[in-house]
Amino acid sequence: MSDDTPEHGLARGLTNYGDRDFSIYLRRSFAASMGYSREALARPIVGIANTASGFNNCHRHFPELIEAVKRGVLMAGGLPVEFPTISLGEVFLSPTSLKFRNLMSMDTEEMIRAQPMDAVVLVGGCDKTVPAQLMGAASADVPAVQLVAGPMMTGRHKGERLGACTDCRRFWAKYRAGEIDADEIATVESRLATTAGTCAVMGTASTMACIAEALGMSLPGTAAIPAVHADRLRAAEASGVAAARMIARPIRPSEIITEKSVENALRVLLALGGSTNAIIHLTAIAGRLGIEVPLARLNALSDETPVLVNLKPVGEGYMEDFFAAGGMGAVLRELRPLLHLDTMTVTGETLGERLAHDAGYVDRRVIASAAEPLEPQGGLVALFGNLAPRGAILKRSAADARLFEHEGRAVVFSSLADLAARVDDPELDITPDDIMVLQNAGPESPSGMPEAGYLPIPKKLAARGVKDMIRISDARMSGTAFGTIVLHVTPEAAVGGPLALVRTGDRIRLSVKEKRIELLLSEEELSRRRAEWRRPTPPLETRRGYDWLYAAHVLQADEGCDFAFLKGRGKG
Ligand code: FES
Ligand code: MG
Repeated sequence: MSDDTPEHGLARGLTNYGDRDFSIYLRRSFAASMGYSREALARPIVGIANTASGFNNCHRHFPELIEAVKRGVLMAGGLPVEFPTISLGEVFLSPTSLKFRNLMSMDTEEMIRAQPMDAVVLVGGCDKTVPAQLMGAASADVPAVQLVAGPMMTGRHKGERLGACTDCRRFWAKYRAGEIDADEIATVESRLATTAGTCAVMGTASTMACIAEALGMSLPGTAAIPAVHADRLRAAEASGVAAARMIARPIRPSEIITEKSVENALRVLLALGGSTNAIIHLTAIAGRLGIEVPLARLNALSDETPVLVNLKPVGEGYMEDFFAAGGMGAVLRELRPLLHLDTMTVTGETLGERLAHDAGYVDRRVIASAAEPLEPQGGLVALFGNLAPRGAILKRSAADARLFEHEGRAVVFSSLADLAARVDDPELDITPDDIMVLQNAGPESPSGMPEAGYLPIPKKLAARGVKDMIRISDARMSGTAFGTIVLHVTPEAAVGGPLALVRTGDRIRLSVKEKRIELLLSEEELSRRRAEWRRPTPPLETRRGYDWLYAAHVLQADEGCDFAFLKGRGKG
């Protein structure tokens, strides 16, 4: 038994109360009860974090994906051991999946650390799962490879391709406007999401998959492989091999996720015209390693990073097209002059080394060249001003440029309930030039910052053909949505941010050119209103359990909505 070293396999992290050999003997005997041989148990262990659940449609193919990971681990001489963590299926979580991202990150971190594994493959995919796994792995700092679910294939409806969930919204808007009837929307419903995998467009899940690859935490070329494609299984096998190889030559997440690789990931996010949620998640991941992501830095990068990828919700195509067009390799090659090339990846190669031999086909209809980009500037921009002193986010690539320089009258909804009660009221006093404002939907509000920032166009305006209006809130927006939507206003209304002080009839000015969002009121009037403001959220002592933990510790959007006590390095 003395051939076991404390660093490897079953003996890893062993708690022993004086008789180490006894502890190993006991562990081995319990492991043997699962049918393992002594030979198998002598191998280094690669944990496989499985996040499948019956409440997660995106992860429905995980059993075969995990089988392929195991094959890879065995091929490279490791022992694969699968373990569950909680699953976050985007549409089935209430009040919002974001609320549980930090919980999943804690589960992931602690299970990686507590159980005897030398490396880990993180198998995730749906929006919050990849950030949660990367946050947890960054904190545990055990060698880790991220394997993503891969995107869904599109469905078909009357000769048109359908992909969750940009087309979900498009057809729902048609239905609200009376352009299609109840029968047709029911048919569309059955055709929007037809395979395993994550949403078919460049939404949050796909953006985070690309970010994981840009950071260096996933194998090259794996972000965009469709969920049901055989290449996805080969990627799973290769991820198992890579994780097992990292045991002999450990590369820790803290060597991969660095200030430079985070900046590369930001560039990629901007070039993709990716999800607004990704800025929150990337900030949270980086924050685990003490790396800041200032919104002013996002703006500086955005000014000089072109939009290259022509996918919905910003452009035309779907993730299956992105994969066929060359995927992340093609994007990284275009961005090469802007990237830090000395960043490390899970293969042991630097990004520069990867790109030196990563030549391949590129379909310019889907991935533009840096010389002829879709947009000269990045997809996301941070806005500042007296309405958002610590910033707000606008996805300019998904917005209507005619509204970029606009002053209008505020029409305020004080909560999600108020919005639901009044937005479709035929008596609602609103015109297309007005600016819709939603308050109290930020991280500390009872709703926990849901994807409610995509306020519906009031029915009476939608029926007149109005497709876009300026909408401002402290909420988030689905990565698959589009419109002139100002999100993540920080500080949020529920903690008394200036957004809380807006009243219907006030004037608001948006200038994308100046990156400003201003409430046109005097400082005296703002102070008067601030003095009258009362906290709308239930007091902390009336909350309990995880809901209490969340409300007590969640940080604002500009700090990634992580818990303050999870940020930074340090021993867990
Ligand atoms: Fe899982 Fe969209 S619901 S990625
Ligand atoms: Mg989403």
